[in-house]
Amino acid sequence: MSVRTATASGAAAALLGTCFLLPAAQAQATGTQDSPVVYAHRGASAYAPENTLAAVDAADDLGVAWVENDVQLTKDGVLVVVHDTTLGRTTDAEEVFPGRAPWAVKDFTAAEIAKLDAGSWFGAGFAGARVPTLTQYLHRLERNHQKLLLEIKSPEIYPGIEKETLRVLREEGWLDRAHVKHKLIIQSFGAESVKKVHALRPDVVTGFLGTPAVAELPSYAAFTDQINPSYTTIGADYVAAVQKLKGAHGKPLRVNTWTVNDAAKAAQVAGFGVDGIITNNPDIVREATR
Ligand code: G3P
Ligand code: CA
Repeated sequence: MSVRTATASGAAAALLGTCFLLPAAQAQATGTQDSPVVYAHRGASAYAPENTLAAVDAADDLGVAWVENDVQLTKDGVLVVVHDTTLGRTTDAEEVFPGRAPWAVKDFTAAEIAKLDAGSWFGAGFAGARVPTLTQYLHRLERNHQKLLLEIKSPEIYPGIEKETLRVLREEGWLDRAHVKHKLIIQSFGAESVKKVHALRPDVVTGFLGTPAVAELPSYAAFTDQINPSYTTIGADYVAAVQKLKGAHGKPLRVNTWTVNDAAKAAQVAGFGVDGIITNNPDIVREATR
């Protein structure tokens, strides 16, 4: 399905959105002045295969500036953009490389991964889409004038991934002042990984993926700027408790919640006062929280 066809559902959501304006308005009345920032999760992954350049373009077609992705290391140390630590679900690795079970990303070279079809599983119209390298991915974002919420995926499997991620970002011009200030956030479920990024480049905005206990938040605030929890784990009280603290750069800790794909949930978390919503359906969430 092309994103242009798929935006028909966005039109439906626009109608739905009128039904859900009240919670967003309530959020404004209670101090959240802006609509939450919308992040396209793995790209606009409801409309194009996740973590491909097509998903980046689908977000761009919808006018969505921020794109989330997942970064891992190949056997030969190249950063690639893919979510699962194995290749079976989103590529044809099992057909192309039989006998290489469990088809772990870390067991394949970048040249081998470049041969895989990462689009056909999603739809015939996307046949031939590739698993992009981080470098290719950054080029496409730059071309589209988009911004990146980069997730270091499963850092415990990939020693040195933080340093290599920062090396590629620097090489591609993403660690200059303009990018660091306005266009880049690095997040991970691994607190140690976020700490490493912060230690290596204290100027970069970071996020911790998870829902630490309120009592533990000050220790996270020492190395991160955002607490990014599953929407299933939060309420208005938790969001307020996070935002009351100052993060690693002396500004209020922010909350970006995931993965919210329908209008009702989007309106609900906007009502909690979250700063951002990470979604496969950025058009629906934008309409519901506007
Ligand atoms: O950005 C938040 C979200 O991506 C975390 O979960 O599994 O989709 O990487 P996951
Ligand atoms: Ca992710």
